[in-house]
Formats: sequence, structure tokens, C-alpha cells
Amino acid sequence: MTNVLHINSSLFGSQGESSQLAEHFVEKLTAGQKGTHVKTRMLAEEIVPHLTAETFQGFMLEEKERNDHQKSMTALSDALVEEVREADVLVPGVPLYNFTMPSTLKSWFDYIARAGITFRYTENGPVGLMENKKAYILATRGGLYQGTEMDTQTPLIRHFLAFIGITDVEFIYAEGLSMGDEAKKAALLTATHQIDQLVA
Ligand SMILES: Cc1cc2nc3c(=O)[nH]c(=O)nc-3n(C[C@H](O)[C@H](O)[C@H](O)COP(=O)(O)O)c2cc1C
Repeated sequence: MTNVLHINSSLFGSQGESSQLAEHFVEKLTAGQKGTHVKTRMLAEEIVPHLTAETFQGFMLEEKERNDHQKSMTALSDALVEEVREADVLVPGVPLYNFTMPSTLKSWFDYIARAGITFRYTENGPVGLMENKKAYILATRGGLYQGTEMDTQTPLIRHFLAFIGITDVEFIYAEGLSMGDEAKKAALLTATHQIDQLVA
């Protein structure tokens, strides 16, 4: 059985351009595949709160030492981590907002990075513990960034995923979506074709 974790981070929810590409990807991936299980996380609707000192400190306490807030935030983090642990394939839809990832996705990252659970420190530096997974990132942008130094989002996401052990990561871009109808249509069509080829 293949477990797919489909994560939408567009503030427009399932209407987002990144969400729709991710949806198409998941549909293609699961078409005719019996026994495939898809878990969808809508980060604009199920907001992961900003990480606070209280929450972060709670992660490192024993359950009996946590206050009520720390207990509920740690339970949320544990549930998000479990979804990643169970997944064979991650399919995040990731728009570019103000030159970086949506803050909802950053919060999700903050709740996934758990010392001793998703990564551990060693004499040679941190080692990721979420291994044997593949991630396909559906990245949508209003302008053109891919391959330029302005694209700080791609390396950031790659570094984060590698940090927790997910090193097999592929990006599918749809760029220039705010550069006129023709450019938008062409970019979405190219990304859709790319998806169809990847998961044929
Ligand atoms: C709040 C906001 C900020 C944005 N910032 C940028 C940006 O910095 N650079 C860019 O190229 N496009 C930017 N855009 C355009 C989006 O990246 C583009 O429309 C993308 O396709 C949105 O994906 P979504 O529909 O999945 O949310 C921004 C859009 C919004 C709503």
C-alpha cells in the first residue's frame, strides 16, 4: 500500500493554483492504484499556530511535565509528524508569497522539526530520521524565479526536507502566473504535462 500525504498551503484553499496542480498530481498518482491511501492537509483551513517558546519548550518535556497548552500543541505536532512518518510520497502545493513560502507552511515545518523524533544531533551534525520517502513540490509563482538567485524558496524547502531525511525531492514549477492570461495558460499547461509524464 502507498500512503500519500497531500499538503495544500495556498491561502485560497483547494481553489489555489498550487492546490489544483497538487490535486492533479495526486489524482494521476493514485488512478487505478488499489490500496493507495491519501491524507490531505489543508493548511489554510487547519491553521498550525506560530511556534512559541512555551510550545517549543513543551516539545522537550515529558508528557506529565507539560501544562495543558503544551500537551495540546505537542499532540498536534505528534499528529503532523505521524502523517509524515506514514507517508511514502509527499505532495505539497507551494505558492510563492512575498518571496518565500506561505507562513502556514513554515508553521507546519516548525511543528515537524522535532529533535529525537524527525532528526537527531550526532557528532557529525544533524541526521534526518524520516527516510525512504519521495516528495513532489508543486510550486506556483506570479513571476519568474526558477534557476535565479531570487528563488530562495527552492533551496529552503530542499534543505528543510533533507534535514529531516527526505532527500528525494522533485520540483514542478508553474511560473509567470501573474504575467498575463497567455503566459498563465501556457505555464499551467506545461506543468500539467510535466505531471502527466512524471506519473505516467
Ligand atoms: C499574498 C501574496 C503574495 C504573493 N507574492 C508573490 C511574490 O513575492 N512573487 C511572485 O512571483 N508572486 C507572488 N504572488 C503570486 C502567487 O505566487 C501566484 O499567484 C501563485 O500562483 C499563487 O498560488 P496559489 O493560487 O496556489 O495560492 C503572491 C500572491 C499572493 C496572494
